[in-house]
Amino acid sequence: MITTTDLRKVYRSRQREVVALDGVDLHVPEGEVFGVVGRSGAGKSSLIRCVNLLERPTSGTVTVDGTELTALSGPALRRARQQIGMIFQHFNLLSSRTARENVELPLEILGLGRRERATRATELLELVGLADRATAYPAQLSGGQKQRVGIARALAAKPKVLLSDEATSALDPETTRSILKLLRDLNRDLGLTVLLITHEMDVVKAVCDSAALMRSGRIVESGRVADLLATPGSELARELFPLGAAPTREGGTVIEITFHGESSGQPVIAQLARTYTVDPSILGASIETIGGRQVGRMRLELPGDFEQNVVPIGFLREKGLQVTVVSGEPRPPAAGTAVQERLLDGAEELGTQLLPDDDQPAGAKPAAATEPATTDQPAASDQPTTSNERGEKEDRA
Ligand SMILES: Nc1ncnc2c1ncn2[C@@H]1O[C@H](COP(=O)(O)OP(=O)(O)OP(=O)(O)O)[C@@H](O)[C@H]1O
Ligand SMILES: [Mg+2]
Repeated sequence: MITTTDLRKVYRSRQREVVALDGVDLHVPEGEVFGVVGRSGAGKSSLIRCVNLLERPTSGTVTVDGTELTALSGPALRRARQQIGMIFQHFNLLSSRTARENVELPLEILGLGRRERATRATELLELVGLADRATAYPAQLSGGQKQRVGIARALAAKPKVLLSDEATSALDPETTRSILKLLRDLNRDLGLTVLLITHEMDVVKAVCDSAALMRSGRIVESGRVADLLATPGSELARELFPLGAAPTREGGTVIEITFHGESSGQPVIAQLARTYTVDPSILGASIETIGGRQVGRMRLELPGDFEQNVVPIGFLREKGLQVTVVSGEPRPPAAGTAVQERLLDGAEELGTQLLPDDDQPAGAKPAAATEPATTDQPAASDQPTTSNERGEKEDRA
């Protein structure tokens, strides 16, 4: 539904040049809630503004619902942009207008008649649960209610895509949950594709089907949340399930395991302890329900060095768990490398010895790693940067 290819945005002023987007290839499937996370300054807002062309990218393309927006300008671009609604952190409501009049604003721009506007605005306020506050002014509304008006206004032109830049950052946790639920409902009921920018991992956990991590103007990781959790070495998985700093003490083998799917329902650690008479110490754990499925991570310390733990680790992998060796010899290189291969070899060699007779191997298979965007960009092009005024105004009004 939303595709960007090799998107670059360079802000230039007399003194300096900021590369805000450095070759972003983003793909948001139709009907998904897609979260983009990253530190401050990573380029998240620049990305979302380039997606609806509030900012003209320096180079690269943006395609929304089959239309390449970057190839358009003038009235054709304005028409295409009606497919895209946007909501903001600070709501951006006009204080001199009531809730309904705020929702009517885009309909006025579309040229709808007074009665039609009022009817549609009333429907939209009902949709967001604010029918009874239609005549209230923004100053008379709570933050959550203002954001509901913002959402109703964003939906006025019946867009297929909703962009959200930190739309819940100014709200308390409970109001955040209710707004996220509303976005989820709109996504399901209207088939709306939602691209949301957030710095809160809880938002990703609560509503996102997929997520991307941005750093220094690039997407360094992206994929469906469930797949990311099963991807060895995934930074997003680590952030979604923080286990704190790994201990540095000597003597044991520290492993991190990720449970997902069927494995999350099995008492695997107890089986491990019983079968191999090892005493694992739990150093950290985080279990959550995502999309109705239990997923989680756990950091364990197994007594003895790595060589002594090859078999128990192989057992865990056979049970369908993803296992990463954090410390203990030999040090594990990056994902999918020698140590894991050795673990698999070890498991094969040991064959059926590995599992008690009554246990069927769970057919552990590490999920395919998602491709990080690794496009190398040529030096910044000499194209002039378009003015940011419009975006700034809309964002900070
Ligand atoms: N209009 C602008 N002119 C010049 N530089 C800009 C402009 N907008 C953003 N930048 C710079 O581009 C980089 C990316 O900014 P952007 O606002 O996209 O980050 P962000 O990920 O949204 O950060 P935050 O989480 O703080 O909102 C930053 O270095 C920022 O200073
Ligand atoms: Mg931002």
